[in-house]
Amino acid sequence: MIFNYEISEELFEKYRQLIFDMLGIHMNNTKKEMVSTKINKIIRRHNIESAEKLYELLLSSKSDRNVLENFVDEITIHKTNFFREDNHFEFIKQNINFILDNIKRIRQNKEIRVWSSACSTGEEPYTIAMVLKECLPIDINIKILATDVSSGVISTAQKGQYSIDTSDDIKPFYLQRYFKNNGEYYEIKPDIKKLITFRTFNLMNDFPFKNKFDIIFSRNVMIYFNIETQGELIHKYYNSLIENGILFIGHSESLTQRQYKLKYLQPTVYMK
Ligand SMILES: C[S@@+](CC[C@H](N)C(=O)[O-])C[C@H]1O[C@@H](n2cnc3c(N)ncnc32)[C@H](O)[C@@H]1O
Repeated sequence: MIFNYEISEELFEKYRQLIFDMLGIHMNNTKKEMVSTKINKIIRRHNIESAEKLYELLLSSKSDRNVLENFVDEITIHKTNFFREDNHFEFIKQNINFILDNIKRIRQNKEIRVWSSACSTGEEPYTIAMVLKECLPIDINIKILATDVSSGVISTAQKGQYSIDTSDDIKPFYLQRYFKNNGEYYEIKPDIKKLITFRTFNLMNDFPFKNKFDIIFSRNVMIYFNIETQGELIHKYYNSLIENGILFIGHSESLTQRQYKLKYLQPTVYMK
């Protein structure tokens, strides 16, 4: 039988604040059991004597990097799939000329810059890469930055290997063209992999990008943040988009309460 440490209300409150300060993620009371299970998992994995001790370790600047990374990997939710919320990819395919006509520098510089800002295990940026490869003129270079706060998902994404069942989400056309079937898994082909740079990055930090993006994907991550944090994040996205650049957000997310300066194009699609 596995022994689980009981997390007191007081300790949960401390973890809740820590998770908010670290990741911007708001954990309400319904998440107590989930947080407690994950804390127990980390304690066992790293042989830490108690949940209090783990909390102290996480606060300490001398915290073991592995423990810290493992905590972030466990606390964050990584559900994703290829062609998730496919109408965004349809939007790009159908409106590629509208995008090119509005963002003049893409044709001028022969380069499109896209950011997948909470990319999880990579399905989102790889989908973006395949779709752009299909619809952009051949002389335009595709540069995709794909980031996530969890280092675990970034190393999975970099490998670009996906289980055979994943293929259910991918149309045969894309599967044949951009994946290699290795028997046990499908692997993204190098001509798609090379279009993407994967990095860990926490959206709570200031954005360090010197060069603005033509398109930003921020899907299914804002739901974990409170309204104030969402507002700050949208403001940072706005500043990181080129004039007429496009922001895609998740289907259960919305900017309606706050107009910002972004123009509404269609549900979950906005333009600077
Ligand atoms: C549910 S997944 C969404 C993946 C993909 N965008 C999609 O829609 O399929 C949410 C991702 O957000 C990441 N995340 C959570 N908080 C974050 C933060 N503060 N900074 C960057 N990424 C974060 C998680 O690690 C997770 O991989």
